[in-house]
Amino acid sequence: MGKRFLGAAVALLAMAAAGAPVGVQAAELAATATLKADQPGAPISRYIYGQFSEHLGAGIYDGVWVGTNSKIPNVRGVRTDVVTALKEAHVPVIRWPGGCFADEYRWRDGIGPRDKRPSRKNNWWGGSPETNAFGTHEFMDFAEQVGADPYVSINVGSSDPTEMREWIEYMTSPGDDTLAQERRANGRDKPFKVPFIGIGNESWGCGGEMTPEYYANEYRRFSAFFHKNDDNPAVRVASGANAFNTNWTDVLTKNAGKFMDAISLHYYTLPTGNWDKKGAATGFDKAAWGKTMAQTLRMDDLIKQHVAVMDKNDPSKRIGLYVDEWGTWYDVEPGTNPGHLYQLNTLRDGVVAAANFNIFHHYTDRVKMTNIAQTINVLQAMILTKGDQIVLTPTYYAYKMYVPFQDSTAIPLDVTAPEIDVAGTKIPAFNASAAKGKDGKTYIAVANMSPDDGVKLSVTLGTLKAKAVSGQVLTADKMDAMNAFGAKPAVAPVAFKGAKLSGDKLTLDVPSKSVVVVAVE
Ligand code: AHR
Repeated sequence: MGKRFLGAAVALLAMAAAGAPVGVQAAELAATATLKADQPGAPISRYIYGQFSEHLGAGIYDGVWVGTNSKIPNVRGVRTDVVTALKEAHVPVIRWPGGCFADEYRWRDGIGPRDKRPSRKNNWWGGSPETNAFGTHEFMDFAEQVGADPYVSINVGSSDPTEMREWIEYMTSPGDDTLAQERRANGRDKPFKVPFIGIGNESWGCGGEMTPEYYANEYRRFSAFFHKNDDNPAVRVASGANAFNTNWTDVLTKNAGKFMDAISLHYYTLPTGNWDKKGAATGFDKAAWGKTMAQTLRMDDLIKQHVAVMDKNDPSKRIGLYVDEWGTWYDVEPGTNPGHLYQLNTLRDGVVAAANFNIFHHYTDRVKMTNIAQTINVLQAMILTKGDQIVLTPTYYAYKMYVPFQDSTAIPLDVTAPEIDVAGTKIPAFNASAAKGKDGKTYIAVANMSPDDGVKLSVTLGTLKAKAVSGQVLTADKMDAMNAFGAKPAVAPVAFKGAKLSGDKLTLDVPSKSVVVVAVE
């Protein structure tokens, strides 16, 4: 946890119990922050706001792909409502086809006439049938419709470099070679643009149960046949560590660093920290809220530890750190296939997303991409679908509120946040970040993690001469408020009325359990 969040004086400004549930005294906590507008930091890549879509449960089938004959409105089989929503959130990159699925995926299964494609068993995810109706061309079409860059994960664990080389050539060759001709025969003349390629996924686990030394050698072997060149300029992403295993990052960047452009990192937020009983997505109590926030804030220390190792082995910071799987992971919804990882999404998830964005913004000289798991119907989803219906989750709205941070420039915001005790778990009441957007405005974002207390945040703007402030807030009365099918969204951003400018001071009255993003100009 960053020390900027801790050790601050807690000032109880007002006891405003009115409207609070019986036995809870809502308070307003005072906090201060200083903006250093004259000391711009690293660019915040738009890829920090990336997505991950795996062949898992209803992530692809029903979620993205409904087929060309579906009554659900679609363009070439891809759901129109989903594409519209993702476009509106400016999704910059989508990682596909896995996940664990990637290390069993054979790309040839997913090309050519759909009625001739083989059906396979999805061994990782509930043994469900994989029809291969959604393959390379369908994924590329989906990404192009959204306006996102594709990030393709290559099978290392159960495949060989030839398979990788041929898939890359099939996708990217502009020439007359047989693979490029086959792509054309399958309907795509121009090469696909593939800016990111992952060489393996979780190679320490579902991707092959390898040791770091073994995978480093495998990675080197695959990279020799990757042929990074004008046709294939993709960023080569090495399969990175599980959570706090910094030894993995150390061995990989030491033994194979010169052959990679990025290395990944996976970390999931489990309320209990226990994979056997993770905690429920809804109907949770305050203790679960507090533990969830504490678990998610570990992202700060996690990144710090991996960055320290990378700074030692790659002092010029050439290699990017891609947190290409992160998000909340709860017990599946009762009655659903345990292998489909279907969970509901509440205000808690929206606050978790924003708290992580604020952390990522502090490390963007090294963290160049992140991909939340997963876009639709799986884990901390942006979107849930049921037949022809769609729900945009609180997590979706958090992403939408943070769009101005895409390709912005970080601005240091020194914050002193009070520490609070949430039913036995101590956490900072909030975290925050700031940046100068492409439109010249300065954006300040706050994630208030207190389930009870508002925060009165007094920001000293320093050299920033501000004339106007406007913004949005995402909140609700209940911690587990969520958006339901067929109903008006209960958790969606509305205009934020709690901002006041006075000289070089900006005061933000941030409600409990909320996300606030303001633009100062
Ligand atoms: O996102 C679900 C799974 O979590 C992915 O397939 C795997 O990489 C990770 O363990």
